[in-house]
This record gives sequence, structure tokens and C-alpha cells, in this order.
Amino acid sequence: MSEKPPIAHLIRLHDLPEQDVDDLLDLSSRIKRRPGGFQLNGKSVGMLFFRGSLRTRASFEAAMQQLGGHSINLNASSDFWELETTVGGRMDGKSPEHVKDAAAVLSRYVNVLAIRPALGGQSWAIDRRDEDIQSWARYAEVPVINMESALWHPLQSLADLLTLRETLGPLRKKKLAIVWTNSPTPASSAVTNSLLLSAARAGMDVRVAHPSGYELDDEVLSSAAHIAEIAGTTVETGLSAKDAVSGAHVVYARSWQGIEDYGNPTLSASRRARERGWMIDEALMRQGADAKLMHAMPVRRNLEVTDEVFDGARSLIYAQAENRLHTQKAVLVKFNRT
Ligand code: CP
Repeated sequence: MSEKPPIAHLIRLHDLPEQDVDDLLDLSSRIKRRPGGFQLNGKSVGMLFFRGSLRTRASFEAAMQQLGGHSINLNASSDFWELETTVGGRMDGKSPEHVKDAAAVLSRYVNVLAIRPALGGQSWAIDRRDEDIQSWARYAEVPVINMESALWHPLQSLADLLTLRETLGPLRKKKLAIVWTNSPTPASSAVTNSLLLSAARAGMDVRVAHPSGYELDDEVLSSAAHIAEIAGTTVETGLSAKDAVSGAHVVYARSWQGIEDYGNPTLSASRRARERGWMIDEALMRQGADAKLMHAMPVRRNLEVTDEVFDGARSLIYAQAENRLHTQKAVLVKFNRT
């Protein structure tokens, strides 16, 4: 008896062969130029949000609707039961349904499942395992798309790569500066981690600026170093903003939580309060090589980025957000066929 082929999921962008990422970007560009040329009539995507979203939800929903398909959007806070993830346990706690059963049932209704898992927010050692998204991928009988887990945001990276390609042309040896910004509601490091690996693999030299205490996950840094070695690119971390931006073609602003004080809001707030000056302004941008600015959003204006830069000619931020629509259409077309 022949075994079923494994289901292709999209959990981390760098799990896809480089050629597949290039093909997805080419498809995104074709869809962007000719939006009516691709159809997913009769197909459905199920989206489950265990925390909030503006862009990911709206762009996926618009993408599916414009392709002639249908989306089902479910919010954990209001639309379904709390789900159990422990395997083999007696379910006498607060969760009345197991993720295994939810995944199996939803797989019979939709062609693709897209999940934005919750973050525990207490322990980086636990959250970094990304167990929830792995559970959905294990139990689903259709492709699972990661809409941002603790460690990875493949959809954002795809839109970022398209924006970089459109702006810079071939990316080989172009310089990208990722600069930590100071936000009282810091994001997870998922966007930064995914971008670091994706940009290095695409041929860019990447420099990351952050204050002491905001080092990225050790395994992510090892993977980035490995990818950069294979790609013949460079990855430098722990720089000052000025050193990272010097000569950069693109500055990517992003807040992220420190690992040392992860799960300790009091320590985290006092550490952040000491870090003044981590805001992108015109003086910093002038250190680059006619540098453009990117940010995955949401942006805290005049705290992470000045109005002058955000609203000025250097900003790619809205174009980058728009590219979420085109790249996610490409993802829906590709993963509905697998
Ligand atoms: N960049 C991004 O994923 O935005 P949302 O969190 O609003 O979906």
C-alpha cells in the first residue's frame, strides 16, 4: 500500500528551498501586475487567531475574496473553545476540546488552515519551542500556514523580500540594517528572526543593531551564521544603530522583547526605560546609502520612527504592508495546489 505524501506546510520560510521562495516572489509579482489572472473558486481558507492582527487577517481575507475563494475567520477569545495540546492526558481541565480534533475537523471544511498561535509570554525557553504551531501542522490534514508564532513570521518575510526586490533589484551584496526600536509594547522577535535568515539567504549583508540585553535567540543566530556562510553573505549583530546603518541601503526598524527579562514586565520596563535614543530619525537615515525605511507595523510614531521619516520619501512602509496582499495571494495559490 502506498503511503500518502507528506503535507507541505509553511511554518518557517527558510524551510522552503530557495528556488521555491524565488518562485513565490515571481508569482507574487505576476499576481500584483495582473490581479484577475488567478482564481481559487470554491476553495476555502480557515484562519484561527489566538491573538490580535490587523494586516495579516485583513490581507488574507481580501486575498481570498479577490481570488474568488472564501475565508472563515475564528478568534480564540470569542469563536471557539480553549484547546488542549497535551498528548495522552486526561482532559479534566478547562479545555473541552483537543487541538488534534479541531485540526482534523477543520481539515474537512477548508483547503488551507492559517494559524496565529498565542504566546505564553512567561518563559522564552517554552515559547521558543513553537509547540502550538507544530501541533496544528502535526494534526491537520491540509497545509498549515504560520501567521506568526513566537519564533517565525514567514508571511511577513515574503512581503519584505518582495519589497526589497522591487526597491533594490538584485539583492546580492546589498546592505540591510535591522535596528531595534524602543516600544512599551515590544513585538516578539519573529519578524526579525525570519527577516535575518531570509535576507541573508537572498544574498544581503545584514547588520543588526540593538542595546545590550536584546540579543536574539542563540539558535536563530547560529542558523543565520550557517545560512550566511552558504550564501556568501555576512551577518553582524550587537552593533550600535549608527554602525549598522552606515552604508545601508535599507533600514528595517523593529522592537522586540529581550530574552533575559522575558516574562518579567517590571524588569523589562525598567530596562527599556534606560534605552534612550533608539528611534529612527532623519539624522540616522542619512548615515545610509540613500537608505529606505521598512517596518512590519504596527508602528509607534515618534517613539520608534519620527513622522518625518515615516511620512517622507524614504519610507516603504505602506508599500511593504500592501505587499502582504500580493504575496499571500501567491501563498494561497501555491498551497491550495499542494
Ligand atoms: N505585520 C503584521 O503581521 O501585522 P499584524 O500583526 O497587524 O497582522
